[in-house]
Amino acid sequence: MSEQKTNWWRDAVIYQVYPRSFRDSNSDGIGDIPGAIQGLPYLAELGIDAIWLSPFYKTPNKDGGYDVADPRDVDPMFGTLADAESLIREAHAHGIKVIFDIVPNHFSSEHKWFQAALAAAPGSPERKRFHFYDGRGVDGNEPPNNWNSLFNGPSWTRVTETDGKLGQWYLHLFDSSQPDLNWENPDVMEDFKTTLRFWLDRGVDGFRIDVAHGLAKDEILKDHRDPDGLTKALRVDTTDMTKEERVSLLTDMPFFDRDGVHPIYKEWRKVIDEYDGDRMFVAEAYIYPTSRLARYVRPGELHQVFNFDFLLIEWDADAIKEAILRVFDELKEVGAPPTWALDNHDSPRVVSRLKREAKARALALIAHALPGSLYIYQGEELGLPDGDIAPEFRMDPAFIRSGGKDLGRDGARIPLPWSSAERNFGFSDGTSWLPQPANYKEFAIDIELKASDSFLHLYKKSLELRKNHLGLGGDAGITFQPAPSGVVYFKRPAGFALLANTTESPVKLQIDEPAKIIHQSQPGSSVEGNSVTLAGNTTIWLQS
Ligand code: NOJ
Repeated sequence: MSEQKTNWWRDAVIYQVYPRSFRDSNSDGIGDIPGAIQGLPYLAELGIDAIWLSPFYKTPNKDGGYDVADPRDVDPMFGTLADAESLIREAHAHGIKVIFDIVPNHFSSEHKWFQAALAAAPGSPERKRFHFYDGRGVDGNEPPNNWNSLFNGPSWTRVTETDGKLGQWYLHLFDSSQPDLNWENPDVMEDFKTTLRFWLDRGVDGFRIDVAHGLAKDEILKDHRDPDGLTKALRVDTTDMTKEERVSLLTDMPFFDRDGVHPIYKEWRKVIDEYDGDRMFVAEAYIYPTSRLARYVRPGELHQVFNFDFLLIEWDADAIKEAILRVFDELKEVGAPPTWALDNHDSPRVVSRLKREAKARALALIAHALPGSLYIYQGEELGLPDGDIAPEFRMDPAFIRSGGKDLGRDGARIPLPWSSAERNFGFSDGTSWLPQPANYKEFAIDIELKASDSFLHLYKKSLELRKNHLGLGGDAGITFQPAPSGVVYFKRPAGFALLANTTESPVKLQIDEPAKIIHQSQPGSSVEGNSVTLAGNTTIWLQS
């Protein structure tokens, strides 16, 4: 094991590539790995340190590739294994690290293990790699417990046995095409270690762990006291539930955040530490209370855990300050760096969520000035809004399983506009798998590169200042200052200060030392000596 660890990930800017929608190289309408390679110069120019690629493995694509049929091979729609190897090489040649997605909670039902389990008898070793149980009630007609799938409907599906009769049920927290793996079975650990080594041997710098909080299940044969309430509490858009109800349901979930996940990551950590080059893990874990997130990044476990606060936060000064302070407080014991994200492929895009571009720009400038690692979802740097998609194009299993009641996440997964004058705005020469709205033209990269006031230039300037001049991602402290109502005011080392006005109207305030504006989310603010006039819905960066 190498001792010369630089911990590049502690303050890295990591760009999420959703390969299907990034760039299509072969005109089949689907983004692919060679397309991602073509995009590397753009990403290098943007100033990011690493890319995280959502899954591109063999998949029947029932859940955007998060239904993996072979984690050690590339799906032909995305390219070849040789393409994945070139991506790692080419990214490294551009000074960009590469993080792949690993999906350990479930396999696709097309994975050879699940196919073997279907062909084998109840109680067989093949079935014990998943959660197969007999049903309850007359003839086992009812599922083994009352848990709901996170994508609507029951989390159990009944199989037809080889004799043609209805038989056992298997657990799937997500779609029925995503059977949950049984992590109490040592075969599962062995197989995942093989997958980790497979990609580590090929030079990958890290892994994003999908549903990292879900691998261990407790009391699988017990009903939950309120399964529908729990489903509702897990949805970020639930509004008709009191905080107390929600907290009580989320605090003890039998399938998420069980203590049994931690020994798994301790084992994984040993594997990654066999490799030199400062490789890392980042966990996706939607859990409550968030103070439990620190347990995933204790010494000897993972390196980072996503913090989803800014994905949900209101444009409100008190809420923003509280969220920032809470994250530092929660992580201080374990020494892991915080992570920040405004967008990802599972959530509404920030511009659409906050309904105003000015607010999204101002929130971005807050995130960009914070210590820790920053995740940017493709298109966020263009200020892309969600698109409205006709039902026949929607593919998200959450949409399908809810009969269209839940619109799902496709609106945030529309292909990127590269070039305003080309077909599919330069994403593909073929028929795009999801049509792009006409207004995506205004957000095309070529247009934004030309307009000095574009979202893209805002991001480029932040990333450049953050990295090359101010070192804002570093561990050094953050001190909040007293500020008028509706204003966020904090200082970082070496004379840097940030002011954000979350109200609609300009605010006048005094700062304690004269400073000048070095970056702002939009024009309209001014500083004279110690007196600041801060425009509404605006963030400014100051240097004294
Ligand atoms: C989280 C992923 O981000 C999401 O896209 C996927 O549907 C679920 N995990 C299930 O794998």
